[in-house]
Amino acid sequence: MILKTWSLLFVLFAAYSGMVYVYSSGVHRGQPPSKEVQWGWNLWQNKNCHTCHQLYGLGGYMGPDLTNMISDPTKGPAYMRVFIKYGTSKMPDLHLSDHDVDALLKFLSWVDKSGKTRVDAKNVHWTGTYILK
Ligand code: HEC
Repeated sequence: MILKTWSLLFVLFAAYSGMVYVYSSGVHRGQPPSKEVQWGWNLWQNKNCHTCHQLYGLGGYMGPDLTNMISDPTKGPAYMRVFIKYGTSKMPDLHLSDHDVDALLKFLSWVDKSGKTRVDAKNVHWTGTYILK
């Protein structure tokens, strides 16, 4: 009896793992990061943007989540550039060069294509993977 139960659990586990693998390997994962994106990523970490901002909902909560701000029609890269370049009374001016700001925007644009800040329950596949349209 115990052996049958374990065998059944094993078969179910193997089948479920197989289905998750098959489904996930078909999901588009976005482009690998270019050199400029990697430079922006480096700045993101070294300038401590993550201590105040979130990506994919993770990070500090002093500033807003920036995951999908590039594609937000009410915000976008030109709007973001001003904040990153000059700061505000709440966000420090980090004295970044135009080249650094470009790299950060490239990095944030790459992030934007890789995932969503908030995932609607209707967009979650039963295996737990996000459904891309
Ligand atoms: C000390 C905390 C802090 C750090 C570090 C920081 N930010 Fe901010 N950031 C903020 C706050 C707070 C706001 C909201 C500003 C406001 O409303 O005046 C903001 C706003 C922004 C905005 C505009 C978003 C919006 O709609 O309000 C962008 C884009 C941004 N930050 C990018 C960055 C990047 C990129 C870095 C790293 C180079 C960074 N921030 C570092 C606190 C920070």
